[in-house]
Amino acid sequence: MAGKIPQSFIDDLLARINVLDIVESRVKLKRTGKNYSGLCPFHNEKSPSFTVNNEKQFYYCFGCGAGGNALGFIMEHDRLSFPEAVEELAKLAGVEVPRDESRVDHQRELRRKDIFALLEEASSFYQEQLKQHSQKAKAVEYLKGRGLTGKIAALFGIGYAPPGWDNLLKKLSQTEADKPRLEQAGMLIHKEESDRYYDRFRDRIMFPIKDMRGRVIAFGGRVLGDEKPKYLNSPETETFHKGRELYGLYEARKFNQHLNKLIIVEGYMDVVGLAQYGISYAVATLGTATSAQHLERLFKMVDEVIFCFDGDQAGRKAASRALETTLPVISDGKQARFLFLPEGEDPDSLVRQEGTEKFEKRLTEALPLSDFFFRTLGEDADLNSLDGRASFSNQALPMIQLMQPSILQQMMQDKISELTGLSFEQLNSISNLQEATKASPQPTYQTTEYEPASDYDDYPQPEYDQGGGYYDNDYSGYGDGNSQKNNGFKRKGKSGKGKFKNKNFRQEKPEFRPPQDLNIRITPASSAISILLHAPHLANGCELSFLANSNSRTEQLLFKLVEYLRQTPDATLGMLFVDWESETDLAGYLGTLNEISHLEPIQNTDNAQNVLSDSLQRLQERSIDQQIDELKSLNQRSPEDNKRLNQLLLQQHSSRASR
Ligand code: UTP
Ligand code: MN
Repeated sequence: MAGKIPQSFIDDLLARINVLDIVESRVKLKRTGKNYSGLCPFHNEKSPSFTVNNEKQFYYCFGCGAGGNALGFIMEHDRLSFPEAVEELAKLAGVEVPRDESRVDHQRELRRKDIFALLEEASSFYQEQLKQHSQKAKAVEYLKGRGLTGKIAALFGIGYAPPGWDNLLKKLSQTEADKPRLEQAGMLIHKEESDRYYDRFRDRIMFPIKDMRGRVIAFGGRVLGDEKPKYLNSPETETFHKGRELYGLYEARKFNQHLNKLIIVEGYMDVVGLAQYGISYAVATLGTATSAQHLERLFKMVDEVIFCFDGDQAGRKAASRALETTLPVISDGKQARFLFLPEGEDPDSLVRQEGTEKFEKRLTEALPLSDFFFRTLGEDADLNSLDGRASFSNQALPMIQLMQPSILQQMMQDKISELTGLSFEQLNSISNLQEATKASPQPTYQTTEYEPASDYDDYPQPEYDQGGGYYDNDYSGYGDGNSQKNNGFKRKGKSGKGKFKNKNFRQEKPEFRPPQDLNIRITPASSAISILLHAPHLANGCELSFLANSNSRTEQLLFKLVEYLRQTPDATLGMLFVDWESETDLAGYLGTLNEISHLEPIQNTDNAQNVLSDSLQRLQERSIDQQIDELKSLNQRSPEDNKRLNQLLLQQHSSRASR
């Protein structure tokens, strides 16, 4: 964007514009009393439930709930970003959009424009080469061999990067200065030592990746044979953020006037192959797992998303991850389903083998999210024993608590009751879960929560690490009321790795000398430590990598403690002292630890979890603030620095917003 648009201008603009004019130029409307109505452009319908209220200057659809003012309509209907929609309205009103010019934004915008133009040229070049290059035959043969028609290849803009180190370079760089531009666009690689540039993509089938507006933002290139890597993607650039883009989304919208569902597949060829067989609503993530952000984006467009997975072990694992990502995102009216393909097949191979109809049948039979959820969890649960039922609900409930309040959530809770024969109240008192999970940010999901500060589609987004499998998260620590009531260190216990080197602390029943004078300050770090000493199982949920380089000793201690507790889940306080005593870099912390262990413990488990989460959030915020300050104070920031700074600002924003 080139500078922020002042709100006062937008208000004035809306006052000048008539929503009816805007809508009427795009949708056929009929007058019905005070309002106007017509067929909703945002969903598929036969009788009109879309209305425009000119008096109040808004539109609303009783069918799909779409609604808003003239600006919102233009954004949705013409698929424009906010600033673009403002431009559009301003044009109609015959006024100029004023900007709070900021040079940085302006330059960035120019750079992006430049990259878009270069990528467009590159895409045309690759498409031409498929028709003209002296070695085009082998590329065409390859595509034919994969069953692709020329028509579908053209629809997706598929091209060919010919063999050689400088085809694109020669074509697109007229002067020396063009080379770094092409490098920034991800198309050339720069060899520092020799200061030479060469083509990134050579002898590959080229798939242009487009943004929602159809601008080429990157490429994926496939080898013609078995060389490695099979697919090469553009690097992260100013126009390409792998973790948020989906291959085929632009095309899916282009091919379908009314899109009501989308399939998420793994690969470029799957998207193209399915489209060739008339299933033109598949999108692929770009070698990453599906992120919450991907899903949020898709659910804004359609009500149903179908994940497609291989039938093998890896596919099931990916499905569990997808489930985990979907739960917090899904809301009423939205549906996610899971399709498992026969082992060894992918959508591309399968649709070619069995045809459109059979594949579509599979789609209609895909497992709804809740079925998949219960099937996976139920597989290894013994619902006949009380223990089995408790452990089943211990696994299921925390995940369900992550969901937005919705009918689906309610139904899933009911289903747990049904399966376990326990009422929801009983389940709650057994597991004492509800509060604990609601109050604490779930560490596994924390990283997926960053929301852009605005709807501008050009906002730089953090890359998401989708780490942590479905079962990686150990909720068992929330325990059942009986065996875990005393959640503290078991002060007695088997000697784990006991090495009795130490005279002060005996393994069996460690006695600590009360410190003469408690001079421990209550800080977020010390309260977190205190809680963990009494409820070590909570360490499982702590994500503290941001403390790794902290220069506060107490924070260092907290970091080490969590590390230790995670590796030694059944540790007793005695074991800890013995183990640390013998490690030179840990022994030094024992004095502080001893002091903190005398702080008043927080008895109630729920409170403990709350206070712990709160302390950790404070620590993280502080760490983010510090890093931001450091980056801001740099005289010169590299592109990586800027990217990092943007990520941190987003984190700062979302962390504050979550308070
Ligand atoms: P697959 O290895 O499953 O390949 O990768 P595919 O899609 O079936 O490809 P074909 O049919 O052999 O041509 C799935 C996706 O993972 C990413 C690509 O996005 C690919 O489409 N990938 C795979 C890479 O980014 N790099 C690779 O080297 C391999
Ligand atoms: Mn394939």
